[in-house]
Amino acid sequence: MTSRIRKNVIDLAAYVPGEQPANADVIKLNTNENPYPASPAVQEALRRIGSDALRLYPDPVCTRLRESIARLHGCDVEQVFCGNGSDEILALCIRAFVETHGKIGFFDPSYSLYPVLAAIAEVGTAPLALAPDFSWPPIPDRYDVPLFFWTNPNAPTSLLCPSEPIRDFAERSEGVVVVDEAYVDFAAADCAALALALPNLLVTRTFSKSYSLAGIRLGYAIGNKELIAALFKVKDAYNVNRLTQELGRAAVQDQGHMQGNTRRIVETRERVARALRDRGFEVYPSQTNFLWLRPAQETAETLFGRLRERGILVRHFTDPRTKEYLRVTIGTDEHMNAFLAALDA
Ligand SMILES: Cc1ncc(COP(=O)(O)O)c(C=O)c1O
Repeated sequence: MTSRIRKNVIDLAAYVPGEQPANADVIKLNTNENPYPASPAVQEALRRIGSDALRLYPDPVCTRLRESIARLHGCDVEQVFCGNGSDEILALCIRAFVETHGKIGFFDPSYSLYPVLAAIAEVGTAPLALAPDFSWPPIPDRYDVPLFFWTNPNAPTSLLCPSEPIRDFAERSEGVVVVDEAYVDFAAADCAALALALPNLLVTRTFSKSYSLAGIRLGYAIGNKELIAALFKVKDAYNVNRLTQELGRAAVQDQGHMQGNTRRIVETRERVARALRDRGFEVYPSQTNFLWLRPAQETAETLFGRLRERGILVRHFTDPRTKEYLRVTIGTDEHMNAFLAALDA
């Protein structure tokens, strides 16, 4: 019998998210969540909403939330798109900007979801290898794709690329360049101004990291109105639910709270990076809420297993380019002290 499942789905190697253990005692340093609570304004909004409001569909175009985001970036509301997590927006970019036989580009290693989204959409991939030290190589002149995902700061390597090469590439590219800025609030620079200036560059952001709201699934894109309008055409009717719109708006209006948490995480990051270097680890200069490191005395796989036995989850990617490294999310100081103590044990 022939299969009822589409062939590309049969062949698909699905995205593997980091483990979400049921046991609350586990120290979770594996999915780059924020260890600190979201703004008290989010709690207040949650109390205010009430279940009766949930009888009604949400605003299909997230008007009030987009107005708040537009104010934050000093742009027009038509330059803002909201999605069910930035992951949804990445998938919609393929739907909106890549023809059936087109290809998407990205650096390798970067966010491992991109090739999965390409396989689901049955479009090709044209990855560009990062240099052995994970820096960005010059992009060949003849390289052009209808859609390029430039993760900045990069994940899982934690490094920040200056904006000049991104601008240069976008300016000579025929296609759309999406700068995936999931971690940018932990970094020293961003490409928001570029997105508002260039006709073919979008920036995507998430509420999952700096805003401590991974559970509500909210991301946004800013940039050229024509590109943003194309995303609206291909989205599901009600892609961002009513609760998420309200809570996201409360969070974005309290920049002070988000920035305070971010500063704390950056301080902890720098302290832990120094402590790891003192222990002989190779630690990359992170501009994110995680560290990319190579253990000194054992393989990454062994250390991953040893930490797991002690109830500390970190992330190990088994691809040849990444298998010697671990990605460790920055938790509270207490979490990170437990992590360092486990290394010393
Ligand atoms: C580079 C990158 N982009 C996007 C995302 C997804 O963010 P969201 O939770 O908004 O879907 C992640 C999540 O880990 C990420 O690492």
